Amino acid sequence: MNTLLLSSSKEDIKTAAQFIKDGSIVGMPTETVYGLAADALNGGAVKKIFLAKRRPMDNPLIVHISEIEDIERFNLVSDFPVKAKALAQHFWPGPLTIIMNKSDIIPDEVSAGLSTVAIRLPSHRVARELIKASGTVLAAPSANRSGSPSPTTAQHVMNDLSGDISAVVDGGMCDVGLESTVITLATKTPRLLRPGLVTVEEIEKVIGKIDVDHAVLFKLESDQKVSSPGMKYKHYAPKAKVVLLNGESEKFISFVNNAFEKDNTVGVICYDEDVESVNAKTIPIGKTDDLQTQAHLLFDALRQVDELDCFTTVYAHCPVKTGVGMALYNRLIRAASFEVIDLE
Ligand code: TXA
Ligand code: MG
Repeated sequence: MNTLLLSSSKEDIKTAAQFIKDGSIVGMPTETVYGLAADALNGGAVKKIFLAKRRPMDNPLIVHISEIEDIERFNLVSDFPVKAKALAQHFWPGPLTIIMNKSDIIPDEVSAGLSTVAIRLPSHRVARELIKASGTVLAAPSANRSGSPSPTTAQHVMNDLSGDISAVVDGGMCDVGLESTVITLATKTPRLLRPGLVTVEEIEKVIGKIDVDHAVLFKLESDQKVSSPGMKYKHYAPKAKVVLLNGESEKFISFVNNAFEKDNTVGVICYDEDVESVNAKTIPIGKTDDLQTQAHLLFDALRQVDELDCFTTVYAHCPVKTGVGMALYNRLIRAASFEVIDLE
């Protein structure tokens, strides 16, 4: 299949919408990461997403809507809890996904046989125009090949999926850079399943205390039950080994310089301030205190590790576990297969 690289003009969005109406799959920009979209109400179309990504069929997809009213218009949920409405009003459009009990209209391919459905209203203009022009709601996981870092540019999508999908709409580099925060309201106490730019602290200001699923910060043991199927799959791993270093900046720098002296295939994902002092090749991801920029650049940095193809081991700072740091930590700890060295 020849994959079209479309612009975000009105005409090109119309072309992409026609692919969706015809039951084909299309890469679409969102403010978080690029998604691979299909008509969420067409099980056959949704199945193509799993084949193209080589995604396990038991991992459910997020349904993207273009306005809150779509939930009732398309009758997506069996009930819309008060706390879900409060979160929707506060954080949508934006990088928050809300899980609720589903209605019968949601195909099994979307919910992977669960009784719930994940819903998100993205803030990206192009995503919302594409959803509207398609006349339906769109199931979309991140548009990467399963296991590689989520794509934050149209080129990343082309690199992973060209030839396997009908088109990619280029909407520029994603602002947020990490996938949405996922919270379920289908449990008695709301529970965070994936951290993102919308933080636990911000959510609790709107709906009160929430639980954070154990698997957000800790490694799952093989016998543990998962709340979200995506948690059990390996994620975001470049080919080189990634190791996190926990400790202050001077110790980080002297550790990586020592390691580089012994082995010149060592690379470093670091803060802008470190670049001057590190002797190894660096991939900077923003200033020490600028967690938003770090989120924006992290996946591109992990992809660069593979593209440069000259590293055997890459060291990175271990992020703090609060605020946006929780999302950075959650992604990096998986890229590092939970390997952290304590420098203190
Ligand atoms: O920012 C995002 O959320 C991006 C953009 C494209 O919107 N999408 C995205 O989708 O990251 P995906 O499929 O890569 O991640 C969705 C996560 C998976 O870990 C999946 O297991 C979980 O959400 N999920 C989806 N539906 C669920 C459900 N009903 N119950 C529990 N977990 C669910
Ligand atoms: Mg994904």
